Amino acid sequence: MESSFQNRCNHPECSINTPMKHYDFKKIVLLHSKICERMYHKYNYRKFLYVDLNSGPGYYSDIKEKCSPYIYLDIIHGYCSFKPEIHFIENNADIYTDLTDFYRNNYQGTFNDNIRFHKSGNLDFAHEFCYNYSQHNAKWMFGLVFADPMGAGKDEFNALSIFAETFPHVDLMIHLQGANIKRCNMSPKTNATGHLSLCEYIDLIDKKKFLIRTPHYKQQHSFLLCTNWCDYPEYQKIGFYDIKSKKGQEIFNDIAFKKGGCIDN
Ligand SMILES: C[S@@+](CC[C@H](N)C(=O)[O-])C[C@H]1O[C@@H](n2cnc3c(N)ncnc32)[C@H](O)[C@@H]1O
Repeated sequence: MESSFQNRCNHPECSINTPMKHYDFKKIVLLHSKICERMYHKYNYRKFLYVDLNSGPGYYSDIKEKCSPYIYLDIIHGYCSFKPEIHFIENNADIYTDLTDFYRNNYQGTFNDNIRFHKSGNLDFAHEFCYNYSQHNAKWMFGLVFADPMGAGKDEFNALSIFAETFPHVDLMIHLQGANIKRCNMSPKTNATGHLSLCEYIDLIDKKKFLIRTPHYKQQHSFLLCTNWCDYPEYQKIGFYDIKSKKGQEIFNDIAFKKGGCIDN
């Protein structure tokens, strides 16, 4: 089944689980955007930021699937009245061309979006963007930074830690693939390149709460949401657990591939 799917999807970053990952991403981001919409009406002076650190090609034409950037834009256009400042990052030149072509052919001129595309490494982007952002404005920004790495996420976790320092009210989310993390943890090659364990990566991120979503499918697809917002019953309804809770610890330690566990109360 996997090989026939892979024949249909010509992108190496696309797998049999990509449509399911997109389905889950849509559900989470829809909830997040609805919460932002409530904030917007309550405190209408607030501004919103959305950053996709691993945008991908925008659209997998062979399997007719939109990627995270355009899933997000469809949600914002469909359900929200606030207009976030949006940044889409992609470091591969060919993939970047596909990403921007898709925008030009399908979105440009349709909505009054505040979107910037960046052909750049996400860690370089995080350094430059956060360093140059007005500290006063950053303090009052809400929103989301999303990372969807292909491997263990070394650059992405480092980039997220920079965003956490600069934007205290902006949530961070990373797509995790347990099977990938296990492979990286066991590989001498990734260890030699300064790769840390998942437990060490989350220590880099200065947020009060870490919520982990129950893993789905054989590849253990999960999402880690890092936030300073401590009231999160709506996330629990879609399968997120505080990593300090018993269930959250179990999920996190399994994905992090730590036999003794690295999260304790
Ligand atoms: C798993 S794919 C992302 C897929 C997309 N988010 C989706 O919804 O299908 C990861 C993407 O990140 C890009 N990428 C990998 N490392 C990067 C880095 N350091 N900076 C920016 N982009 C990177 C890859 O070229 C690839 O297109």
